[in-house]
Amino acid sequence: MDRNLALNLARVTEAAALSAGKWLGKGDKNAADGAAVDAMRRMFDTVDIDGTVVIGEGEIDEAPMLYIGEKIGTREGEDQVDIAVDPIDGTNSIANGTDNSIAVLAVAPKGCLLNAPDIYMDKIACGPKAKGAIKLDDSPSENVKRVAKALNKNIEEITVAVLDRPRHEEIIKEIIAVGARVKKVSDGDIVTAIETCYEDSGIDLVIGRGGAPEGVIAAAALKCLGGDFQGRLHPTDEKQEARCRDLHSDLKKIYSIDDLVKGNEVIFSVTGITSGEILDGVKYYGDNKAKTDTLVLRLPSGTQRFIKSVHSLDLKPDYAK
Ligand code: FBP
Repeated sequence: MDRNLALNLARVTEAAALSAGKWLGKGDKNAADGAAVDAMRRMFDTVDIDGTVVIGEGEIDEAPMLYIGEKIGTREGEDQVDIAVDPIDGTNSIANGTDNSIAVLAVAPKGCLLNAPDIYMDKIACGPKAKGAIKLDDSPSENVKRVAKALNKNIEEITVAVLDRPRHEEIIKEIIAVGARVKKVSDGDIVTAIETCYEDSGIDLVIGRGGAPEGVIAAAALKCLGGDFQGRLHPTDEKQEARCRDLHSDLKKIYSIDDLVKGNEVIFSVTGITSGEILDGVKYYGDNKAKTDTLVLRLPSGTQRFIKSVHSLDLKPDYAK
């Protein structure tokens, strides 16, 4: 994939974040999501790729745009790519005006991103220094101990991010019992997984059940950053099991980071909508200007670009508004 694609993909998540940012704290997550989807879709129309959405807003009959199977980009028949998008991860966060919502996408050559069904996945994630120290089937305390050793930290210094859900009560109790710290996160387990790769975030490990599509997107980022990720699909009813069968998903398998994201070519872009530990949210300046904070990753080079952009909203072309 052309390395210059990275900047154009940053424009795509910036556009989604700028549109969603207007909905901060207004209690309307559908309006925020609609605005982000629209903006992302329009900006994709300017990008020189021959892409297909493999992780998106849902099936064609439930999502008018960015649906699974939708063709994206201006190119045809050459260097085909798969696209995973989440125009907003953390729709409740933007609606409630709280932290951790992002606009995010990953692009990889055709066939390289797992076509994950829209069901839950059990997940565990860590940064590069602890790579190899996590095992999904081991208990939280065993994982905490191994990660502490790998990071040369006392267990009391380890912070585990866990989505704040009743289903995670036992996990949280066990993390506390072993002596580690818990950061309960209201929403957004893609960004917390990314945070394990940045020491300044203070997050060392992520454990718990969240969306499977979000799992693939997080794995794409962690692969670029040298981190580690494991996941297993968790259907909750017969319909979800049938969907897994359609996609030939293996329900017993622990998917490694390389199963979720194959090969050595990924471009990943994430823009903050509301603030988190490593990215600021959208901020509005006077004179119709707005600022975004984006991280763009390229796997082949390992480059991590933090792009702080100031947008003159008056001067944006129509497709970017
Ligand atoms: P949405 O923006 O689609 O609501 O996802 C937010 C999120 O917190 C994800 O990051 C996470 O994987 C998933 O929801 C967890 O699902 P649930 O809210 O059902 O526990």
